[in-house]
Amino acid sequence: MPDQDGAPLAGAGVAAVAGPARTGAAELRGAAILVEGLVKVYRGPGGLRAVDGIDLTVGEGELFGLLGPNGAGKTTTVGVCTTRIRPTAGRVAVGGIDVVAQPARAKRSIGVVSQYNTLDRACTVWENLYLHCRYFGMNKRSARARSDELLAMFQLGDRAKASVFALSGGLAQRVQLARALAHYPRVLFLDEPTAGLDPQSRLALWDVVRDLRKTGVTVLLTTHYMEEADALCDRVAVIDHGKILVCDQPDRLKRQLGASVVVHLHLGSAAVGGSVTADLAADLAAEPGVLAVEPTEDGLRVLASAGDGLVPRIVAAAMGVGLTDLSLTEPTLEDVFIKLTGRDLRD
Ligand SMILES: Nc1ncnc2c1ncn2[C@@H]1O[C@H](COP(=O)(O)OP(=O)(O)O)[C@@H](O)[C@H]1O
Ligand SMILES: [Mg+2]
Repeated sequence: MPDQDGAPLAGAGVAAVAGPARTGAAELRGAAILVEGLVKVYRGPGGLRAVDGIDLTVGEGELFGLLGPNGAGKTTTVGVCTTRIRPTAGRVAVGGIDVVAQPARAKRSIGVVSQYNTLDRACTVWENLYLHCRYFGMNKRSARARSDELLAMFQLGDRAKASVFALSGGLAQRVQLARALAHYPRVLFLDEPTAGLDPQSRLALWDVVRDLRKTGVTVLLTTHYMEEADALCDRVAVIDHGKILVCDQPDRLKRQLGASVVVHLHLGSAAVGGSVTADLAADLAAEPGVLAVEPTEDGLRVLASAGDGLVPRIVAAAMGVGLTDLSLTEPTLEDVFIKLTGRDLRD
């Protein structure tokens, strides 16, 4: 079914952000999101520290990424920021308002899109928007006007009367985004907004998220897709086991690897995992310019600073060990994650 997942966000210039409404302690001002020493321990066997001392500052208008594998603590962090989860320790301010001390107030500056479809299935697309507007205190007339405006902004006009059940995953996320913005929040939390979407719908949602920045809204986006963090975010914090490992602009994170090329060596199945591969890995690691050698499912991945014929030397060494294929890529955030944790983001 051809839907409008691919259409750009119309009227993105429409002011989606309300005027300043900051209050709270002076030191909480200035940042759109301020997270200090955040800890969340879930009750139960072992008392899991899902979030283990996180500090974050997200500036006004920034598109900030929290990148980490499943179970890293992303949803818990977002849950605290959006007043859904009470922290064990630390504090969080959104738009200068302490979310624990003043949750109702903080919620007015917050829009949330979760990974799951939380639209009201008893209502149409338009009714979902309208009810949200009413919930946030708009009178009937303003709520009607805002709902119409959002449908137009998000190219959902022809879906106004559609049942939520009739929406593709990509369109449902688009409606959730429209709903999240309905009350003019200053800060938007997108928790794995593209998880489970097909690649085409994912790319289409990226366009919608990119367009959001023109509205000036601050966005905190969580994802376990490193391409997504790289493509969308001004800054990315890599999170694992409830801790932030690094936080910087994607390009800077990649540059800090010190590698200019990643050589992916695909070895014959006989060689993979065997002592021959281990010997090759050791030989390659000793080459000047080779920064790291990691095993992969079907061979080795070599992080290197190219130059002085290094890549040909790597290839020559691998030829004797059943090299079946090879590819060269630039370093990615995946490589950053592997360097930091020794694991693949997908593990
Ligand atoms: N309500 C809960 N009770 C107990 N443990 C939880 C609860 N929610 C999440 N967890 C655990 O906390 C850790 C972090 O989860 P979560 O914040 O959902 O991570 P992510 O969103 O990065 O996948 C995981 O180990 C998860 O199993
Ligand atoms: Mg999650």
